[in-house]
Amino acid sequence: MASIGGNQKLCVIGASGRLGRYMVRHALDRGYEVVGVCREKSVPKLAEFEGQITVIPGPTNDRAVIARAVDGCDAVLTVLVPWGRKHYSSGTAQAVLDYARPGARLVFSCGWHITRDGKDVYSRKFLLYAAAFGRLAKLLRVVDIDDQVEACRRIFASDTSWTVVRGSDLEEGESQGLPVWSRHVGDPVLASNMTRRVDYAQFMVEAVTDESLIHQAPAIVGRLTPSALAHAGKPA
Ligand SMILES: NC(=O)c1ccc[n+]([C@@H]2O[C@H](COP(=O)([O-])OP(=O)(O)OC[C@H]3O[C@@H](n4cnc5c(N)ncnc54)[C@H](OP(=O)(O)O)[C@@H]3O)[C@@H](O)[C@H]2O)c1
Repeated sequence: MASIGGNQKLCVIGASGRLGRYMVRHALDRGYEVVGVCREKSVPKLAEFEGQITVIPGPTNDRAVIARAVDGCDAVLTVLVPWGRKHYSSGTAQAVLDYARPGARLVFSCGWHITRDGKDVYSRKFLLYAAAFGRLAKLLRVVDIDDQVEACRRIFASDTSWTVVRGSDLEEGESQGLPVWSRHVGDPVLASNMTRRVDYAQFMVEAVTDESLIHQAPAIVGRLTPSALAHAGKPA
């Protein structure tokens, strides 16, 4: 799809989270008709958009909920959360892959820890943190990183028009503009490892109309971070 907004329908799965709400705002600003999916108990978090979007309450890994939400959508933006031990990420991703209309733009979010081709280079600090977090999460059974890895494996293997946006650490704050990206974690431009949530959301929405991002897993970083500024204008 080449044109922006007007008459185009866009679904945000995980709309009630911080990233989700920024995505809804960017999508409305661009003139999309927006459908948002979130857990029933989180519907009040979308009150600011009342009358502007259609909300479909339900667990995002419920295939019937996703089938209804993505019906007729030109684009689907998905917050891939790995909560619990019930295949939340992979269930959500699979439902989107199965039910979005052929040709729809599918844009998924995850962190830098996801690798597409194994060529990402992680700092020792990042690896230590990821290992400790993964072990603790598994122990407490609250987060299932392995399932998010499985979700992305399925996305990478699919022949849909997907993009997987890999976010750095996130922070709140005024927009710095569209984040810059590189193919591999470890590329110097990404060294600052920080992106404003509002800008991450903008990248997700802009990816819908950026055909150069189809079948890419861009790792992003804030446009005004020191590493991005140091490499501005240089090839990644
Ligand atoms: N370092 C980072 O933090 C980092 C880095 C890169 C990318 N990301 C990506 O950013 C996204 C989320 O970030 P965020 O800032 O928007 O976080 P957030 O505001 O905490 O949102 C998290 C999302 O998870 C949902 N959620 C929370 N608890 C849940 C549960 N028990 N079961 C099912 N869903 C649950 C939330 O839905 P409710 O509104 O219903 O609670 C919301 O949609 C994820 O895709 C993550 O992979 C994060």
